[in-house]
Amino acid sequence: MAASWTRGLAWLALWFAGLPAWAAGSEPSTQQWAQARAAAAEIAGAFTRHCPVAGTGDQPAFEQCRRGLFGDAALRDSLDAIVLWGRQRDPALSLQASSLTQFAPDVLTGLYMPLFMFDGQHSVRYVASEGLFQLRFATAFRNRLAPGQFPYPFWHDAEKWAMYQGANEVLLWWEPMRGRVKAAQFTVHGTQPPVTVVKRMPAPTDFSGQWMWMDAQGRTQPKATLFDGLYRADNPYLGQLEGSYKRLALRLRQGECDSCHVPSNPGKSKRLVLLQTPAHAAGEIGRLLKAVREDRMPRDETGIANPLDAATKKALLEDGEAFASVLDAARRWETQARMAGAAGTPDLR
Ligand code: HEC
Repeated sequence: MAASWTRGLAWLALWFAGLPAWAAGSEPSTQQWAQARAAAAEIAGAFTRHCPVAGTGDQPAFEQCRRGLFGDAALRDSLDAIVLWGRQRDPALSLQASSLTQFAPDVLTGLYMPLFMFDGQHSVRYVASEGLFQLRFATAFRNRLAPGQFPYPFWHDAEKWAMYQGANEVLLWWEPMRGRVKAAQFTVHGTQPPVTVVKRMPAPTDFSGQWMWMDAQGRTQPKATLFDGLYRADNPYLGQLEGSYKRLALRLRQGECDSCHVPSNPGKSKRLVLLQTPAHAAGEIGRLLKAVREDRMPRDETGIANPLDAATKKALLEDGEAFASVLDAARRWETQARMAGAAGTPDLR
């Protein structure tokens, strides 16, 4: 605790020292280099603390990593309100030209980053064409987890699954002006092999076209997207969250939102927004309600707003608001439980 406070102060001092030097388009100053390196070191520390190298199917290690990254300020506070995420297909491709998905920090820290393991090796580059620093972290992907631990079946696309499995670095694109990560990617184009041996696995299940499904025990999957392991198991709102999402999901289907906002990206968006699971929708619910209220969504195939009929719109808004309010209650409960627990046990599960 004390150590992280002094780290915070040191960070602040560096930060203020660096501010006036920045001018858009110019090379970064010495101070900005120092800030970027300090940010990279701090994030690398969080990665290795919570997500050290383990077996590629080690469930307890994965759970520790999820809880840790979801709750750790070092990573979370460095993320923009929306961060772009995706694979780096070609290092020469600009971010602008890359197809990426928009994520809220909760989704990135709770569902995606924990799929990776870290050994602390990192490096920092400045990419002048982007005006961004690139913080690079050596990594390996946990490819042997149970299917429901992935946010969706990445293997719906063979190339995507292959790239996840071959990942050797995670890249955080860090903006010096605001000290925030704007985009995050994983890449197979790092210089070193992955930090542990990742034996290629075929697709863990046949992809049925369903982004959510029932397992043989009758449980809804992927359970990672039902806040499993992120919220405490005794959070009294968990059951309601699933039910209220299911009602919202029906409305999204009626509104044909799922003809665009799904991982297969039928509309070929370069900045995809995902709504197909409770966790994904939770990250977007504020924007979702606003877009529907303002008749900006849905759109037709040509990208033109194609407002819902009044009854469908009303029902979607009602069920969306209900989901948002259960989500609020669940989050408030978590905060209170954490505060109550902070004095006693450090394990927040
Ligand atoms: C024909 C495709 C299409 C359909 C159908 C569609 N959207 Fe979108 N939506 C987009 C595109 C394109 C964007 C811009 C971001 C992007 O490129 O993905 C977007 C953005 C959004 C955003 C985030 C940005 C913002 O405007 O706040 C939300 C939330 C959203 N859509 C919700 C919905 C909902 C809810 C529905 C159904 C009622 C819906 N969309 C139907 C294509 C679509």
